[in-house]
Amino acid sequence: MADKPTKGLADVVAASTALSDIDGKAGRLFYRGYDIHDLAGRTTFEETAHLLQRGKLPTRAELAAYIDELHDGRALGALVSHNIPEIASKQKPMEALRSLVSLAGADDPDKDSIAPDANLRKAARLTAQQPLLVAQYHAARTGKDAPPEPDPSLSIAGNFLLQVTGRVPSRREAELFDTCLVLHADHTMNASTFAARVCAATLSDMHSAIVAAIGTLKGPLHGGANEQVMKTLESISPGNVAQAVREKLDAHEKIMGFGHRVYKTEDPRATHLRRMSAELAESTGDDTYYRMSKEMEEVVFETKGLYPNVDFYAASVYHYLGIPTDLFTPVFSISRMSGWTAHVIEQHADNRLIRPDSEYIGERDQKWKPIDER
Ligand code: CMC
Repeated sequence: MADKPTKGLADVVAASTALSDIDGKAGRLFYRGYDIHDLAGRTTFEETAHLLQRGKLPTRAELAAYIDELHDGRALGALVSHNIPEIASKQKPMEALRSLVSLAGADDPDKDSIAPDANLRKAARLTAQQPLLVAQYHAARTGKDAPPEPDPSLSIAGNFLLQVTGRVPSRREAELFDTCLVLHADHTMNASTFAARVCAATLSDMHSAIVAAIGTLKGPLHGGANEQVMKTLESISPGNVAQAVREKLDAHEKIMGFGHRVYKTEDPRATHLRRMSAELAESTGDDTYYRMSKEMEEVVFETKGLYPNVDFYAASVYHYLGIPTDLFTPVFSISRMSGWTAHVIEQHADNRLIRPDSEYIGERDQKWKPIDER
């Protein structure tokens, strides 16, 4: 008979990985042994994606070659491009991304291979295409044929801001958004990464695994929380934060952006995002959502002892950067694409089918009857 299951697989070690590590008690996060505090603000998203997918922080020459590969891989295939307008008219952003990445799989030149070199190429293409998919989707749903042309001198972060807001970001805005992408890139066995690995472990292909991950990230208990945080901030009047939060907690509602399965102290990513939110509040001259967030943080901690997670201050940061609220979770997917694809590569490199057991709690010894006697 199977052992009693741990609900939600809490504390169950489901895979070995060399990609990221969390010390939940100390509130620390590492990508391939590098402390997130050393990477954030000093290492670009492109370098971070290289670190995750290709195993090391790149030299200048390696980075230049990787960026060239990203530029070459950015072009969307005919099937994806053809379907964007209709998908944009019918599907919400995360649903659309799930559909579009699936179509991108059909367009991919390596679609029939899960060989290591094909996986590396697909990982770079998916990382390059995801921001463009979001931008193209946003352009189509706002009645435009296409977003502004990307500027080859800008990073993935800078080009995303340009293509979604229609405005060339300041150097500082692009840097801050780049740091957001670095902070979200990987996070051990989070739900979407686990979904990707389960799919990959059947020896299914990279795009199928990423579709599973996107569907999993979409939920409000995972990546969908950042959008819900913004909606909560917008629904509360600035002078009524404490009371509104207490009412929600009294009604046993979860406050989005708080709590974490692994961190028992402050999420180290939230430390950076809080600082960025404060900086943007000051530079935009509108500190309303930053102040409200700080107050919410205090009330939730006093009342429930819960700390903000990565999604909490990400909401006001993205808002200050001019990103539409319903694109917050797609932004998470742009960054996490680097981690998901690295996990698929890692899973395929040392694979065993992921097939846990279950505890049966249903009826036993039922007597079968013909349909007319039931
Ligand atoms: N607001 C109010 N109460 C909470 C919250 C919250 N945000 N989070 C946890 N709790 C309470 C929960 O009600 C429960 O209380 P009790 O024991 O009295 O029933 C206790 O804390 C344990 O919560 P849990 O939901 O069993 O914990 P979990 O480890 O299963 O869930 C979590 C972790 C992140 C899903 C949860 O904290 C949550 O739902 N937070 C809100 C959604 C959110 O912000 N998600 C983003 C997570 S971080 C980024 C990511 O992975 O995407």
